[in-house]
Order: sequence, then structure tokens, then C-alpha cells
Amino acid sequence: MRRLILLSILICFHCILKKCLCSSEQDKVLSITAMTQEQVNLLQNISSHNETSLWQPASPSHITSNTPVHLYVQSSSVTRVTELLNTHGLSFSVLLENTQELIQEQTRNSTTDPKSGGTTYERYQSLEDIYYLINKTNQEHPDMTKLILIGSSFEKNPLYLLKLSGRRGPVDKAMWMDCGIHAREWISPAFCIWFIKYALTFYKENPDITTLLDKMDIYILPVMNPDGYKYTWTTNRMWRKNRSVMEGSSCVGVDLNRNFDANWCTTGASSSPCSDIYCGRYPESEPEVQAVTKFLRAHKASIKLFFSMHSYSQMLLFPYSYTHEQIPNHSELFELVQEAAIKIRRHYKNNYRYGSGAKTIYLAPGGSDDWAYDQGILYSFTFELQDRGRYGFLLPPNLITVACNEALAAVKTIAIRVLEKLQ
Ligand code: ARG
Ligand code: ZN
Repeated sequence: MRRLILLSILICFHCILKKCLCSSEQDKVLSITAMTQEQVNLLQNISSHNETSLWQPASPSHITSNTPVHLYVQSSSVTRVTELLNTHGLSFSVLLENTQELIQEQTRNSTTDPKSGGTTYERYQSLEDIYYLINKTNQEHPDMTKLILIGSSFEKNPLYLLKLSGRRGPVDKAMWMDCGIHAREWISPAFCIWFIKYALTFYKENPDITTLLDKMDIYILPVMNPDGYKYTWTTNRMWRKNRSVMEGSSCVGVDLNRNFDANWCTTGASSSPCSDIYCGRYPESEPEVQAVTKFLRAHKASIKLFFSMHSYSQMLLFPYSYTHEQIPNHSELFELVQEAAIKIRRHYKNNYRYGSGAKTIYLAPGGSDDWAYDQGILYSFTFELQDRGRYGFLLPPNLITVACNEALAAVKTIAIRVLEKLQ
């Protein structure tokens, strides 16, 4: 009997302990909707603090009423933040309770953890593993790939391009695709790697990819922001910018998708080094952006088609993002993304919104797609891949396949159409 009492006391104690540990020790992601201007202000204030990380929109300045805001809140601040929200009558729900578990799932690796299923391409890869993989791919396919070093990052990590070509002579057209401008958007590098694997596996098997590789060279930059990407694996999963250190500020990093010379640092970017949409000290101040623009300038006669991969929110965007004005071939690009979105809906039952960047999300100057467009690459796109906020940046590995397949369908659809137009 004594034993039984002791046991039940122990169990009870364990429950209390477990409850404390499990329900409050986790970082959470909240979905919050402001209704009034006062609530918008409060939300902007909360999301500017260090213990939170704004998932959507990219910056507090973009918060508006009646649009759900996705906010990552560190465990130590969950109580304080939710109390504040309640006091001011903001309605919210918990999007993610178990962020640590999701992060663990995303960083699982087959060699260290037998529980991680799937192939290389169905898992997220660390920066080192991505370097290893593209090197290996290059060695295994010397006839179809070329590895090109276009520069290095602030922390001197190499920026490798993989050039894919069909087994044929030289051609005069090319396509560009970059991934991983924003560090925390892990599905983006995963997609570049997926695309490379797909292209090399299904060349001469799938008619679309065969046509693309026979008619164009495809330049792929799997990780444009290696320093930031590495940092999300080692230190802060929610990091967005690069890791450049600025004189006179204790804040680190520039938003590389605000650093291009396209209406640089106007509305939609920030000149404050602490902001997540910091535009940098001057246009192209960042080595990662310099490397990309140098390469694109040198190859702009051949590059006809440009893709930049981001996440999340499921959108197919085209210029401009720096102004509400329409580009001259607006309706042409609109039809292209529309066709791609319809294809995704038909095959994967998933909805993607589409349109010009400024109209579809928000003003965002200094972006790569707008810059490329103004350089004369008239088919220029930014994709926001899965999902729409169910998991956000913490998209579980078992969803990589669908996310990549639908993005692949969209890229192929658009690229094939553009090739027809260029004939
Ligand atoms: N969400 C991304 C960002 O904030 C893309 C926004 C669209 N901007 C653009 N230039 N395409 O950078
Ligand atoms: Zn992004």
C-alpha cells in the first residue's frame, strides 16, 4: 500500500513536471489578426522585439488589418505576448505548438539517425552536404554539367553554380534559377537540388525536360546565401538575411532580395541594419549580390528566363515588385503564371496565387527578379513555394516531394512556353 501511494505521488509529480516542460518550454508560432489601427500598431510593436520572429509578412511595416500575421514567439515570451494580445482584444490561434520537434525532424539525417526516411532529395541538406552533392553530381555527369565558381559570400563560403546542358553542341539560350536567397526558406535549396536530380535523371525520358536541356543551358545556384543558410542550421533557424557585419551597428545581415539595384531602398525596404528587410549600405553592397549580378551581366545576351525561389505562401510572381506600375509585357507573363497555377491545381490540387509582386504581396524594391527584368531578361519570375502557413518555414521533410513536384511542373510549363515564343 505504501508503495502504491509513493508511486502515485511520483506519477503526479511527473505529470506536473511534464506539463510545465511540455506546454510552456516550446517556442510557438501564432496566427494573429489585427482589426483596428491600434491593434496593428501593437502587433508591429510586438513583432519588432527580439524574442519574436516575424514569419509573415517579412517586416512589421507590412502588417495591415484583417490579414493574418504569422509570428514565431520564443518560449520565454509566449505568456507575455499572449497576455498582451488578450488584453488588447486581438484574436489569435496557435499555428504550431511543437516547433522544436519540427526543427528536429527537418535536421534529421540518415547517417546519424535511422529514423529519417526517404532519399537524399526527400530530406533537407546542410550546406556542407549540398556542396558535397553538387560536386558529386558534377563528377558523375561530366557530359551534362559544369561547376562554376561565381564568387564567395561575406564569410568566404563559395558560391557554386551548376550549369546543366543536354548532350549537344553549344546553344544561344539560357535559363537562370537561384535558390536560398533567404536563409530560413529551406524548401528553396531543396528544390534546386531536386531540379538538378530530376533534369539529369529524366533527360531523354521526359519530353519537356529533354526539350529544355536540348535548347537551353540551365544555370542553377542552389544556395545564394550560404552564410545565412549555415547559420539557420547551427544557431538560429529563423534567420533570413546574409551574415555581413556592418561598421557602426551591432545588428548583422542584409536582406539580399533588397540589395539589388532596382529602385533600391525605396518603400518596402528598410535602411535600418536591424530590420529583416535591410537594404544594405548601397546597391550591390553584398558580395553574394555582386557575384550574381556580375555573372548575369556577363551572360545577359543568352539568359532569356529567370527564376528565383522562395517560400512560403504559394505564389507565382513576376515584376514589378518595386512599383505598382505594370511592365510592358504584363499580360504575357500573367498568362504564363496563370497556366502554371492551373497545372498545379489540376495535378496536385493545390492553389497558387499569381500576379505582379507589388499587387500580389507588397512593395519590395531591390529584388533580383526586378533587376533581371530591367537588364532585359523579359521572362523573370519569383516563386513562393509551399506552404500557406500550416508549417511555414518548418515544412516537414515528407512534404518536400509534393512541394518540389508542383514547383517543377510550374517551371517546366513556363520554360516550355517561353521557348516556343523565342523560336
Ligand atoms: N517574399 C519575398 C521577399 O520579401 C519576395 C517578395 C517579392 N519581391 C520580389 N522582388 N519578387 O523578398
Ligand atoms: Zn524569401
